[in-house]
Amino acid sequence: MPVPSIPEAAIAALSSAEAVAAFTGAGISAESGVPTFRGERGLWRTYRPEELATPQAFEADPRTVWEWYTFRRDLMAKSNPNPGHYALARWERHFPHFSLVTQNVDGLHHRAGSQVVYELHGNICRSRCHWCRKPAGDLGVGPDGELPHCACGGPIRPDVVWFGETLPARTVDDAWKDVRQTDVFVSVGTSSIVYPAAGLIEIARSAGAFMIEVNPEETELSGLFDVCLRGPSGIILPEVSRRLGLAD
Ligand code: OAD
Repeated sequence: MPVPSIPEAAIAALSSAEAVAAFTGAGISAESGVPTFRGERGLWRTYRPEELATPQAFEADPRTVWEWYTFRRDLMAKSNPNPGHYALARWERHFPHFSLVTQNVDGLHHRAGSQVVYELHGNICRSRCHWCRKPAGDLGVGPDGELPHCACGGPIRPDVVWFGETLPARTVDDAWKDVRQTDVFVSVGTSSIVYPAAGLIEIARSAGAFMIEVNPEETELSGLFDVCLRGPSGIILPEVSRRLGLAD
């Protein structure tokens, strides 16, 4: 794919920015081979996460829910960060204030070298007790298919946020505070329809940030952006870095 040209306004805004916030969704990991939820090749075509990713589904049928998460854990473990993840890790070292807020649970930002990542929806590699919330490392279904349990007797589950559950309070506080103060807000690879996370886009806009969207497709909130960069983030973000004079 030809490298798209980046409008001068976006480069100028980033060049003079003290504070930059990036907000990522499943699209940034698409080029790593992790399927997105929605869209042409989205997981929702095969699975119905609204039926699997809920506390009620887990309580009713933990084995089926664990099957879905074990499948995704294995897939993510085999995936590697792509140039989009690496570009954002580079930005963290470059900008005086840089915040990375992700909806992804795949841990690829950390693996690309990002130090501080606000994981709004948790992390699929971690587990915790469904009852007492005690962390349980990366515990999953045992080799003989036995389901993991906590010392308190509660079932162990993936440490991710499910439909109907609240986002981690401390992470939300930190992320929302940073986004209110950012000069430039860059939304990458999200369909911008899952709230409260997508609300960050509206907050950044209201706070007066210069708004950049990176996504091959138009989204529900594209109208709130000053510049929309249409293409894969694994190509666009390194090109923005190059224009900013940042080596990989
Ligand atoms: P979606 O699957 O809803 O959207 C992925 C977006 O990535 C789409 O807008 C695609 O156009 C875009 N995209 C695809 N390939 C891309 C590429 N190479 N570069 C850039 N963008 C690309 O994913 P999210 O918006 O992250 O929640 O979904 C939000 C939440 O919905 C997820 O965190 C998950 C799900 O329910 C929980 O698990 C709680």
